[in-house]
Formats: sequence, structure tokens, C-alpha cells
Amino acid sequence: MRDEMTEEALRAAAASIGVPAPIFLPEVGSTNAELRALAADSPSGTWVVAGHQTAGRGRRGRSWLALSEGALALSILLRPSLPLARLPLVVLAAGVATAEACGPAFRLKWPNDLLDLEGRKIAGILAEAELLPGGGLDWVIIGIGINVGIAPTGPFRAGCLADVLGEAPDRASLAADLVGRVIAEVERGSRDPAAVLEAWRRVDGTLGRRVRVEGVDGVAVGLGPDGSLEIEDDAGRTHRILAGDVEMVRAG
Ligand code: BTN
Repeated sequence: MRDEMTEEALRAAAASIGVPAPIFLPEVGSTNAELRALAADSPSGTWVVAGHQTAGRGRRGRSWLALSEGALALSILLRPSLPLARLPLVVLAAGVATAEACGPAFRLKWPNDLLDLEGRKIAGILAEAELLPGGGLDWVIIGIGINVGIAPTGPFRAGCLADVLGEAPDRASLAADLVGRVIAEVERGSRDPAAVLEAWRRVDGTLGRRVRVEGVDGVAVGLGPDGSLEIEDDAGRTHRILAGDVEMVRAG
């Protein structure tokens, strides 16, 4: 089903759970790019949501395809007070919030790709940060794209919430709920990093699996305190991966 995501519906959904009202843009290139342009003068919690996003940006310079009325594309500006070294935990926290907003039928592929149980990608997250002149964190923008009612087709395995849940959730309610969860989870993570790691493990779909990432082949065995992925290769050596695209490898 396709729902109309109006500014009015978004404002009502946000107000009902105490989330700041969004900046709604009926059509936009990239919500991350829009919010980036507003970041210097905007408070933490400012969020931009697109009716339709035409030039979504993905991780590692890729593009993010979102179909009109079948997708949710939004970006949230946060100013967490934490050392730069803890930025990866913000990325994990955003993944936890996304997984929890979408429900128990989904799992995270490290660091924060949301997959269904068949391994189809449902949501992706692009975090972009700006540093203060002294080197601390000024802001981070968390851009989240969710395939809600339609799975994009292409040379990748994508799914959508509707296929798994039986119907597409209302996008305005999902958006407000998601933003509330991201704000709360990042806030929790800045106070208690271990709590984010623990929450991430509850929605994890990577640990214990055979993976390949950044030239390392092995079994994903844990998360480091900094949010890195620990992989044990066949020679028993442990590798710590700070960033990369994990490929799930079938054993055998
Ligand atoms: C990825 O998996 O590569 C990350 C995709 C992130 C896409 C979202 S959609 C909303 C926000 N605006 C963008 O331009 N990108 C992010």
C-alpha cells in the first residue's frame, strides 16, 4: 500500500511522541545534503524528511535509490557531546534505533545495514560528521533510507518492510518513531557506550557468521569497545575492522 506522507501527518506524529517537528521537503536531491547546508545554524534534533528523494547518497560514494511513495528518506542533525573516537558508536546506535523501529523481523549487518532474514537490504544509514576547529565533534548527520512499500530493483538484493510485515507501515508514524529512537539511542550511547554495544548485539545478524571485509576472511566473533568488528581468520588471528562493507560468506 502507498500512503500519502503529508507535512501535517508528520507534524502530528512527531508532536504525539514529543519529537521536534520536521522540515518536510516534498522533493529533494538528498536529505543529507539539505541538512548539511542548514547544520551551522540548526540545533540538535533538527530533521529533514523527503516526500521524494531524487539523488540519495549512499555509503562509500554510492547512490541510494528510493522510489517515490514507497520509501522513507530522512536525516537527523545531532550534536552529541562525545570524543571523536566514539563516533562509530553513534553509527551503531543509529542502526539499533532503525532495527527497533522496524521490528523484530530484521537484523543488522555490521555496522548498520538493516536486512530481512533472507539477507535482503531493507534500510541503509549514511552518517556524516563535521569537526570543530580544535578537533572535537561539532555535529553528526544521520541519514536513513528505508524501503517501506516497494523494494528497488537493480544489481543488489533489496527487500521492503511491506513484503516482510504483510503491509507497509504508515510512513509519517514510522519517521517520527525512528527519529525519537535515534535521538534517544545516541544520547544513551554518549552516556553509556557499553549499553549501545549490548543493544546492537540484540539485533545483530553478523556475529558468528563467516564474513569477508577489507581483505579479511573469517568469522565475525565480536565487537570491540570502540564499535569495531572483530574477525577471527582461519589461522586464529583476530583482526579489528573499523569501517568497511561486510560480505556474508556461506560456510563450506
Ligand atoms: C547505504 O546503505 O549506502 C546508506 C544509504 C543512506 C541513504 C539515506 S536516504 C536519506 C539520507 N539522504 C541521503 O542522501 N542518504 C541518506
